[in-house]
Amino acid sequence: MALVPMKQILEEAKKKGYGVGAYNVNNMEQIQAIMAAAQETQSPVIIQASRGALKYSNFTYLGYLMKAAVIENPTIPVAMHLDHGNSLDSAKKAIDLGFSSVMIDGSLKEDGKTPSDYEYNVNVTKSVVEYAHKYGVTVEAEIGRLGGIEDGVGSGSAHITDPQEALQFVKDTGVDALAIAIGTSHGAYKFKGAKVLAFDVLQEVRKLIDIPIVLHGASSVPKELIDAVNKYGGKMPGAEGVPMEHLQKAIKLGVQKINVDTDGRLAMTATIRKVFTESPEKFDPRDYLGPARTALQGLIASKMKAFGTAGHASDYAPLTLEDMKKAYSK
Ligand code: G3H
Ligand code: 13P
Ligand code: ZN
Repeated sequence: MALVPMKQILEEAKKKGYGVGAYNVNNMEQIQAIMAAAQETQSPVIIQASRGALKYSNFTYLGYLMKAAVIENPTIPVAMHLDHGNSLDSAKKAIDLGFSSVMIDGSLKEDGKTPSDYEYNVNVTKSVVEYAHKYGVTVEAEIGRLGGIEDGVGSGSAHITDPQEALQFVKDTGVDALAIAIGTSHGAYKFKGAKVLAFDVLQEVRKLIDIPIVLHGASSVPKELIDAVNKYGGKMPGAEGVPMEHLQKAIKLGVQKINVDTDGRLAMTATIRKVFTESPEKFDPRDYLGPARTALQGLIASKMKAFGTAGHASDYAPLTLEDMKKAYSK
């Protein structure tokens, strides 16, 4: 089995200068599509579940489906990651489920909406680091705040990361990977006008800290997917994402983990709408979930190539959580 600590996946990416997508999953078809893309392109991969996804699947179902991905793909390094954990308790639950990595998003309070302060963020992050490292589990945290509101994740007010604060935060918490805010946001409506990211802030943070950097809200919201959704009865006017060239520039400047959820949702929805429109007689879920899975595989494979992840699956011998436990206890 190649369940690996996310820290290893990201540090290997940092050494070689490529990005690794962290793809959100809620069900079997999404997991299978992402893993098939990882096989196709020979890429290490991070599959991540939000609190909402875990709740939707009653925790155990999704946990076991993610484990199945690891069992079925023994030669692919896979990290199972909790996305936007909101408390020590949410991290504990994910670790109990066998996750090799957790995010604690202390940029917001436990409700996932109210902006917190630095002290709150440090305290909750430290408590998760202390707990998770005992199990060899990687911890991602966030400093600064993304704009946008996504089903309980987001306050609606953005706060670009202060590089000096990021440095202090890494020192104060001992976290393994840091999500920063440089102008992206969750969801399908990221920009009203110019698509400007604070690359200068990213550069400054990269100069100051040595751990892997994470970019949330990194879906590109491809025009062809929005056009397909709208063509087959959807209604998503004004949807905009982060252009792939911006993501590639961010990777060059030092981002290692790139979070993608929205684009996967769009690929599946566009395909399902097409099947429903063109074949209204169909009613077997396999007739629309199957094509949706194939479309998602294609989308993720193209991201793995564009982020530079492709071809790196067998670059290194996977570390275990036991190895990490020992490393953390030194
Ligand atoms: O960060 C937000 C992700 O897109 C997860 O969204 O909470 O609706 O599962 P969700
Ligand atoms: P998108 O909404 O841009 O896909 O971002 C997903 C994300 O950041 C999950 O944590
Ligand atoms: Zn996010």
